[in-house]
Amino acid sequence: MRPSLWGFPFILSQLHALVEGVDLASHVNLFQGTENGGNNFPGVARPFGMVKLGPDLLSGTTDAYSGYLPTGEFSGFSLMHEQGTGGAPKYGTVSQLPLVGNITDPLSNITVAREGTDEARVGYYKAQTGEGVVVELSASAHAGIFRYTFPEDAVGKNVLVDVSHVLPSFRGQGLSQGYQGGNFTIFADGHYEGQGIYDNGWNRSPNWAIYFCGYFDNEIVSNRSYAGTDQDGSVEQDSGSAIASTVSTRVGGLYGFDDTIVTSRVGISWISSSKACQHVQDEIPGETEFQSVVSDAVSEWDDKVFSKVTTTSTNETSLTLLYSALYFMHLIPTNQTGENPNWESNEPYYQDIFTFWDTFRCSTALMHILQPVAYEEQIRSLIDIWRFDGYLPDARSSNYNGRSQGGSNADNVLADAYVKGVRGAVDWNDGYRAMVKDAEVTPPNCPVDPMAPDSSTKEGRGALPDWLDLGYITPRFSRAVSRGVEYACNDFGLYQVASGLGIKDDADKYLNRSRNWRNHWNPKQTSLGFSGFVVPRDANGFIETDPLHNSGYWGDPYYEANSWAYSLTSVHDMKHIIESAGGEQTMIERLDTMFTEGASGSSGTIFDPTNEPMFNIPYLYNYIDRQDLSVSQSRKIAKTYYHTGVTGLPGNSDAGAMQTWLLWNMIGLYPITGQTTFLIHSPWFESLTIDMGRGKTLRVTATGGDGNGDENIYVQRLTVNGMDWKKNWLEWDDIFSRGGTLEFELGSEPSGWFTGPVPPSPAS
Ligand SMILES: *[C@@H]1O[C@H](CO)[C@@H](O)[C@H](O)[C@H]1NC(C)=O
Ligand SMILES: *[C@@H]1O[C@H](CO)[C@@H](O)[C@H](O)[C@H]1NC(C)=O
Ligand SMILES: *[C@@H]1O[C@H](CO)[C@@H](O)[C@H](O)[C@H]1NC(C)=O
Ligand SMILES: *[C@@H]1O[C@H](CO)[C@@H](O)[C@H](O)[C@H]1NC(C)=O
Ligand SMILES: *[C@@H]1O[C@H](CO)[C@@H](O)[C@H](O)[C@H]1NC(C)=O
Ligand SMILES: *[C@@H]1O[C@H](CO)[C@@H](O)[C@H](O)[C@H]1NC(C)=O
Ligand SMILES: *[C@@H]1O[C@H](CO)[C@@H](O)[C@H](O)[C@H]1NC(C)=O
Repeated sequence: MRPSLWGFPFILSQLHALVEGVDLASHVNLFQGTENGGNNFPGVARPFGMVKLGPDLLSGTTDAYSGYLPTGEFSGFSLMHEQGTGGAPKYGTVSQLPLVGNITDPLSNITVAREGTDEARVGYYKAQTGEGVVVELSASAHAGIFRYTFPEDAVGKNVLVDVSHVLPSFRGQGLSQGYQGGNFTIFADGHYEGQGIYDNGWNRSPNWAIYFCGYFDNEIVSNRSYAGTDQDGSVEQDSGSAIASTVSTRVGGLYGFDDTIVTSRVGISWISSSKACQHVQDEIPGETEFQSVVSDAVSEWDDKVFSKVTTTSTNETSLTLLYSALYFMHLIPTNQTGENPNWESNEPYYQDIFTFWDTFRCSTALMHILQPVAYEEQIRSLIDIWRFDGYLPDARSSNYNGRSQGGSNADNVLADAYVKGVRGAVDWNDGYRAMVKDAEVTPPNCPVDPMAPDSSTKEGRGALPDWLDLGYITPRFSRAVSRGVEYACNDFGLYQVASGLGIKDDADKYLNRSRNWRNHWNPKQTSLGFSGFVVPRDANGFIETDPLHNSGYWGDPYYEANSWAYSLTSVHDMKHIIESAGGEQTMIERLDTMFTEGASGSSGTIFDPTNEPMFNIPYLYNYIDRQDLSVSQSRKIAKTYYHTGVTGLPGNSDAGAMQTWLLWNMIGLYPITGQTTFLIHSPWFESLTIDMGRGKTLRVTATGGDGNGDENIYVQRLTVNGMDWKKNWLEWDDIFSRGGTLEFELGSEPSGWFTGPVPPSPAS
């Protein structure tokens, strides 16, 4: 944790602690995982909140995915961000920038240096500019509050509102966002309203519009609105006149103050600027104390998120890891119910899914347990997106589906929710119809993705024609092998839901199809002495590949992971994989090889901790009766690659996917998405309690460990709900549907505590 955080006076936290008796929010390190590709968003947000208010840094060459960078200059402080994503930045829209002096050209892409180190804690962000202005931020769900403290002697205390502000991308992949126009009006009472239109970003979105409404709580001594282009400079407008924009005419305003402390409250809405004003009035009305927004944010996080998971641990390192992970998994998706600009319905609306490709293994299963109410709303929202947009999203931002990296992984998420009994107001007939659309109807290849022009990356399954005709995917489609493997998993999801709904013919068909990953399995393909890998193929048969190094991006056969990873992806058919790969002993050696430093001939391990396709791999030992190796390998990864510092994540957080992998490691279970199975490994803490809502709790205790997951990690004995437990897995109903207890006895050496059977392989 940054030393500067410790020096900060935790006055509000302490107040809150007095009220609640405990302040779990103080364990969160907002800067954890912000650097080295973690891309965590350190600004201010509420759980699932639409507003994420934070700094936008410009460094000229580095993409600021969540706005923040440790270096560079401030280009603004804006209300919209994603959390922990890669690919290319999205949003960075609706901004303000405090400036000192005489601002003659507001269109000159003004940036201002950073002074010192930013500070943050839950509900609060603080930065200082090189001109000596202290910027403090807090937020509610649909609005943010800015407090500027100018140097007293500053001549020209200004706030710039630049509607054209976005987060750019420097990667040269054609994914940089663009400003496409807007309008801006200063009203007689000094408040401003308007709209900005933007396009592109990682999801290759067409134009989308956001409305905003901003108030200043100080006497305004000067104001001007401006319009212009980079070519002709700015033209000042009379105050009070709306600026009708032509495309890409940059608009905005510049306010001047005499006061040293200037407070602004700004709301956003996808619907209208009057709705944006309403959000401000509802959530941060005039006269609101800045500090009360901060303390409300802390209370909300404690009540809705942190208090759901409590432990007896007093180790600050573990507590920071635990509560920071819980924090960062709750920033997206965002609850935008009542804020859907595209259709009217009574269903909830969530977006900023970025992406199911990342989150379907660990995040959604944990979200279900921690936030059952929000989770049911998220499932209903997904189905509603299919109803009105035609397809479930694999990713969605700016109200637009895109992009799908592999399969239609919302199918996995819906299947998981279905088999674990999510019902409530979910219309599962429609849910299943949405899944069938993915499985049967090829999405139109429009717009064409230049990085993968062969088929749609917007939604659905672009390579479906081959999958339906041949049962495998030929190289005429990009990402043929990784998509084939994912489509099989998606079809397994359809089998699960069809079975539950009693649609027997469909269930048989999709169970069959869920085995088609096998059509990519070449038993003769070898790598490092092991045989049997998923490979590219066409009508003439298998195509020779390099299972270690043939790992690529949008245009390649394997997306972001190699054949060592994708060959072991089909967990629903694990027994068959183990048999095809030469049996249990060979599979143990094959897994061991993936964790052996330098095994591939270059440094590092074949196992890649930085990305989601390998999330399952360390736990697969449970399928071959070596639960002890799942414990040791997964714990080693958790303790090696995750820590509390700014580089504390091994790769992009990806909407909290990395964090949820870690949280499951702490809990001692691993979810097999799409099935009711949870693999058992071993918990970190002496005691951890999860409040699952509706009066249900899960209590996980461990005796004989070090209370911290570092030593004595092997299971000696386990009781589940007070009964001796001999399997290395359990099912949803055992401990989750009514709550339950897991009591572990841990020790320093592996023991023969379990006797089987191994976890199910329903497709084998
Ligand atoms: C600000 O700059 C403009 C344009 O250069 C100039 O006309 C004006 O006098 C300046 N104002 C002050 C207060 O320096
Ligand atoms: C401002 O930035 C935009 C986007 O990068 C660029 O197109 C434009 O030329 C810049 N304008 C100025 C005046 O530097
Ligand atoms: C904004 O500036 C104009 C022109 O100087 C002035 O007439 C108007 O009263 C100002 N508005 C506010 C809210 O101060
Ligand atoms: C901005 O443009 C939108 C769309 O044309 C319009 O609905 C809105 O009233 C305009 N807002 C202002 C403040 O001019
Ligand atoms: C707290 O946990 C860390 C990380 O596991 C460990 O290195 C440290 O020794 C622990 N501290 C104490 C006092 O147990
Ligand atoms: C989502 O937002 C809607 C509208 O504000 C609200 O009614 C609902 O309770 C929210 N859901 C959760 C889980 O907070
Ligand atoms: C399943 O696949 C087998 C072998 O390809 C085929 O014979 C059988 O008819 C299929 N069953 C269904 C229900 O599609």
